[in-house]
Amino acid sequence: MDSIIVTGNGPLKGQIPIAGAKNACLTLMPATLLSEEPLTLTNAPRLSDIRTMTQLLQSLGAEVTSLQDGKVLAMSSHTIDNHTADYDIVRKMRASILVLGPMLARDGHAVVSLPGGCAIGARPVDLHLKALEAMGAELDLREGYVHAKAPGGLKGGIVDFPFVSVGATENALMAATLAKGTTVLKNAAREPEIVDLAQCLRKMGAQIEGEGTSTITIQGVDRLGGATHPVVTDRIELGTYMLAPAICGGEVELLGGRIDLVGAFCEKLDAAGISVEETALGLKVTRGNGRVRAVDVTTEPFPGFPTDLQAQMMALLCTADGVSVLEEKIFENRFMHAPELMRMGAKIDVHGGTATVTGVERLKGAPVMATDLRASVSLILAGLAAEGETIVNRVYHLDRGYERVEEKLGAVGARIERVAGK
Ligand code: EPZ
Repeated sequence: MDSIIVTGNGPLKGQIPIAGAKNACLTLMPATLLSEEPLTLTNAPRLSDIRTMTQLLQSLGAEVTSLQDGKVLAMSSHTIDNHTADYDIVRKMRASILVLGPMLARDGHAVVSLPGGCAIGARPVDLHLKALEAMGAELDLREGYVHAKAPGGLKGGIVDFPFVSVGATENALMAATLAKGTTVLKNAAREPEIVDLAQCLRKMGAQIEGEGTSTITIQGVDRLGGATHPVVTDRIELGTYMLAPAICGGEVELLGGRIDLVGAFCEKLDAAGISVEETALGLKVTRGNGRVRAVDVTTEPFPGFPTDLQAQMMALLCTADGVSVLEEKIFENRFMHAPELMRMGAKIDVHGGTATVTGVERLKGAPVMATDLRASVSLILAGLAAEGETIVNRVYHLDRGYERVEEKLGAVGARIERVAGK
């Protein structure tokens, strides 16, 4: 397993290009199953999760061709000749559950392995299943698989989510495009990735209103056509790299950055004393001299502060001037980066879903262990400004969501290198 070695090296300067959003691409790709016509995605990120989704779609009979060094995905599922998504792929990536709605909507049957939990929580899929049942699906859970049927096709229905779920909203939205009649999704997720999916489905001929609000209404159609669609900018990669100059000092321009994707996050950066400026090419982040200010953070569904930036924000607050309280309201176990940051000298007190961070002057480099995608990048961010060398192990987590992190940070002056595993 590869490791990444980071050595504190002073202020950063330069530009970092931001890629297409992993979490948009992972829901746009299964949309190909809804149509016999070609669906081409541009601005796709080059990540291992995208390669996993490619393998899954190909196992179902879809054609997926990666072009332009992976930035273009040309897909077409003229026929789906296998309707079973196997456990060995689904267990590697939970987003695999997103093939369930499209397959059921297209052909009236699907068998998908339950994804199982992951490091940050149990992450059940009960809301996905209830949404499909509200559209007339008959579900049978056995031997770890969901056996789904919709004889005569799905029917429009009212789906009232008890709490916001990004994935369940995506599964239901895709399924509803081919359901007979009208479907209303209430308490739907409002994330930019949902908006991006709706815009792509509309290009394919779907009739959708209200994406980006809590109520999405879909009028089912008989069939969908093809489309070409650019994957929206990755707001989590954007926020992650905005924190690099915030932690190290200096000035970095994030190419392709959009302020509307990171509103709540920028409010917290501003409160911490970090300047964010819109430029013709994206967003420029500058940190002057002196320590950042402590700020409190509570994670919420969009447009609130994103849970996927909580670990990275904690890395900044470890050296803030004062005490910061972080509340993780989305996942039940998303502070695994805290004990690793404490190995670097951070002062963090975790009780349930609340972490209290007392800022210290500077962290000290240490060997640390990555446990999930966002925790791993928060350790790299902490290492950028720490005294001495930080060795982040198990970086395969990192490669799931960040393309070429050592190149992107190295280009703005970070001392960072990847060491091939033994
Ligand atoms: C998506 O996961 C993202 N993944 C996650 O990003 C992100 O953290 C999450 O949304 C929240 O924004 C992708 O888009 C591929 P949820 P998802 O359904 O859809 C519970 C990353 O780092 N829940 O909004 O799985 C669930 O356990 C990843 O890129 C149920 O109880 O998230 C969680 O506590 C990590 N039953 C909460 O709801 C369900 O049926 C929110 O989950 C579904 C979810």
